[in-house]
Amino acid sequence: MRQTDASVAAAPRDGFSSSFGVLAATLGSAVGLGNIWKFPYLTGANGGAGFLLVYLLATLLIGLPVMITEIMLGRTAKADSVGTFKKLAPGTPWWLIGGFGVLAAFLIMAFYSEVAAWVLAYVFKSLAGSALSSDPAHTSAAFDQLIHDPLQSLLWQWAVLVLIGGILLLGVSKGIEAVTKKLMPLLFILLVVVGVRSLLLPGADAGLRFLFQPDFSKISSGVVLTAMGLAFFKLSIGMGTMLTYGSYFRDDQNIPATALRVMSADLLVSMLAGIAIFPAVFAFGFAPAAGPSLLFITIPAVFAQMPFGGLFMVVFFVLTAIAATGAMLSILEVPVSVLSERLGWSRAQATVCTLLALALIGASAALSNSVLADFKWFGMTMFDLFDALTSNVLLPLGGILLCLFTGWVWGPRRFADALSNGGTLANRRLLAALFLVTRWVSPLLILVVMLKGLGAF
Ligand code: PFF
Repeated sequence: MRQTDASVAAAPRDGFSSSFGVLAATLGSAVGLGNIWKFPYLTGANGGAGFLLVYLLATLLIGLPVMITEIMLGRTAKADSVGTFKKLAPGTPWWLIGGFGVLAAFLIMAFYSEVAAWVLAYVFKSLAGSALSSDPAHTSAAFDQLIHDPLQSLLWQWAVLVLIGGILLLGVSKGIEAVTKKLMPLLFILLVVVGVRSLLLPGADAGLRFLFQPDFSKISSGVVLTAMGLAFFKLSIGMGTMLTYGSYFRDDQNIPATALRVMSADLLVSMLAGIAIFPAVFAFGFAPAAGPSLLFITIPAVFAQMPFGGLFMVVFFVLTAIAATGAMLSILEVPVSVLSERLGWSRAQATVCTLLALALIGASAALSNSVLADFKWFGMTMFDLFDALTSNVLLPLGGILLCLFTGWVWGPRRFADALSNGGTLANRRLLAALFLVTRWVSPLLILVVMLKGLGAF
């Protein structure tokens, strides 16, 4: 089991106790609001099936190799994300990969905690029965009322930060992970149920066509960059989370196979979320390009059409909140492990300071739909800026640097040795191909997509 509580900070570095534990924890980081909130809203805003196709390609050609490399370096060094490079390449500036990662972790948490705040607020709205409705005007108004209210936006975000802080400080993250592990299959089943209900709505087929029939004219360089950014965000790669999780991996764990399983399961959850949402979007006449509100305005409408819909909706948002918790714990693991292992702070100190800083930065994201709605940089509110800057710049940059480090500094021999577990796995051919992809294909692809998407040429 991973150690995250303050009481064991001085103990020797521990790891995951079983192969299933490794898979579940890594999946716990990958699956979260990215699947249930971000994937549907980006797919809706970027034209549907074409975006989905590019996202799948980016996940396979870029996401998977980067994930494997990142876990491998983490397991080899067994340190935090900055310490990994101080160990593997002492006296060089490669540790900056870890530094960028800490920055990305802060910026992601700043807006992620606000989306988690909306989810938490919806748990209570569902309990009070005030959000359930199949009238688009009503569900949109309920969401707007929440995000346009500065006090509610801030207080729910603080509630999220306090909850996460409590989990970390009480040292119960192991317990939470165990619970998450047991509840994830429930989320999966509930998504299937909602998906079936959504598919049976009159007019649902338009949603399926939107999701699965690509319209290639909608694919621009900006869309490609967004899809690639989503692939990074989804798999929690490019910012040191998988370096840190890799450091807890067992030496006999088959890294490529584990990464492949995590990627497949993660994609499956996203697809289920898409199937739960898009048929309903079209059946009820919502705008697929509604943006970050899509989940919150569509899901209540689907539940309104189901027996015991109110109860199901409470369960849905509780499970979503739990999935978000697993992801947030993994994001926080990056700054907390760097602060405690680099600066020698206790985990409690590192946690409190990180969360206080987050309450400050996070407020600018929380208030982006109310008092700070007109405060924009590069034409974006802070919420949108943190989101775009991390997914479209920082994570891909981290990905390029990880690939370059592995391909050109680490080299093919150590790569093959680390990923075959010292020759005990018979995967030499696969690793030779994977090395070439990591050395050339992934970094070049990321670079081209990034520069083109940002309008550099
Ligand atoms: N992968 C998570 C999700 O899709 O919700 C978000 C995330 C977790 C991003 C951890 C980055 C990270 F390091």
